Amino acid sequence: VSPELPSPLQMQRRTGRKWRRYGPDVLPAWIADMDFLPAPAIGEAVMEAVATGDFGYGPTTAASGVPEAFARWARRRWGWDVDPAWVQLMPDVVGGLANCVEALTEPGDGVLVQTPIYPPFLATVAAAGRRLVAHPLVDGRIDLQDLDRTLRARPATLLLLCNPHNPTGRCFTVDELQGLLEIAETHGLTVVADEVHADLVYAGHRHIPFASLSPQAARRTVTLNSASKAFNTAGLRTAVWVASDPGLRARLLALPSTRWNAFSTIGVRATLAAWSDEGEEWLHGCVGHLQRMRGLIGERLACAPVKAAWTPPEAGYLAWLDFRGSGLGDDPASWLLDKARVALSPGPEFGAPGQGFARLNFATSQDVLGQILSRIEQALLSDRVEASR
Ligand SMILES: Cc1ncc(COP(=O)(O)O)c(C=O)c1O
Repeated sequence: VSPELPSPLQMQRRTGRKWRRYGPDVLPAWIADMDFLPAPAIGEAVMEAVATGDFGYGPTTAASGVPEAFARWARRRWGWDVDPAWVQLMPDVVGGLANCVEALTEPGDGVLVQTPIYPPFLATVAAAGRRLVAHPLVDGRIDLQDLDRTLRARPATLLLLCNPHNPTGRCFTVDELQGLLEIAETHGLTVVADEVHADLVYAGHRHIPFASLSPQAARRTVTLNSASKAFNTAGLRTAVWVASDPGLRARLLALPSTRWNAFSTIGVRATLAAWSDEGEEWLHGCVGHLQRMRGLIGERLACAPVKAAWTPPEAGYLAWLDFRGSGLGDDPASWLLDKARVALSPGPEFGAPGQGFARLNFATSQDVLGQILSRIEQALLSDRVEASR
């Protein structure tokens, strides 16, 4: 069953920035929120909080039930054995990244990221005063030999891994991850693995938690996850980090407790509903719908009279579109906002390899996605006609 869409009236009443940042004539396909209504189990969980006035300070991590729910989910979804004692609640993954950089590195340390990359990775390293070691992916793949050479020249102590990867949608293979682990061991890297897109993997691919590779991998890894992407609950401010190594856990827990404890009482309820059998059933329908939307983009790009190249994502609802053949300059999203009245995420925000790219969020209805693609095609076509005059 496909996820339900809000009515146009419901959509107008939303306050979220995806729908409010631009005027009503712009179709929003930028920030990673989905248009869909939540899983019924999540709606019921939130209504139960409303019905009981459960708006006070929430449970502690240990009493919340979330560590046990995540452990069950991780085993079931990815075959990863997690001890609930390794799990700590926090408000959000991006805050978790910043906390990990602060707790696990020293000022001036190198932090490795794989570009193009979800912009908060870059901002986090810069804000913490750490040295960015940006290693470009090659068509979404890791060039391990080149990475080894890069780290010899520009050492790092931490890898911020994004798997599945935003914006390329790569779901790294076991061989790639093993190669990365060898490099982490050689160069003494701690790994912070942002796996927030792990539940949005398409047929033919498999999410492999980095920490599940081996006990050696687990010892150097902190995993960040949340129901926020797959279940569209980013505003409910609840996420988790997982570390099996007591030393890593101690360093993270040495930060002021406010860094972790500001998760939401309602978010805990929603997360328990997400990581449940009912949640999984909804997720199944959602991923099926997203896979059809991904197919629609492929069909339209294949027969479009204009040039935009892409590699379909293996996970996630973000299409990384390569407009370098269309003559739109470094920031096609700005051109598309102006000429097509569609809002995509600007490629250059994802680091230097993002120049000439834009990221399209396709978590919407077939109708809206069709309109977005038509507007892009028409704007590119009229530009070509003008240019040939
Ligand atoms: C890779 C990645 N990490 C983190 C986030 C945001 O997660 P949170 O809202 O929990 O900070 C996103 C959202 O798009 C994402 O793509």
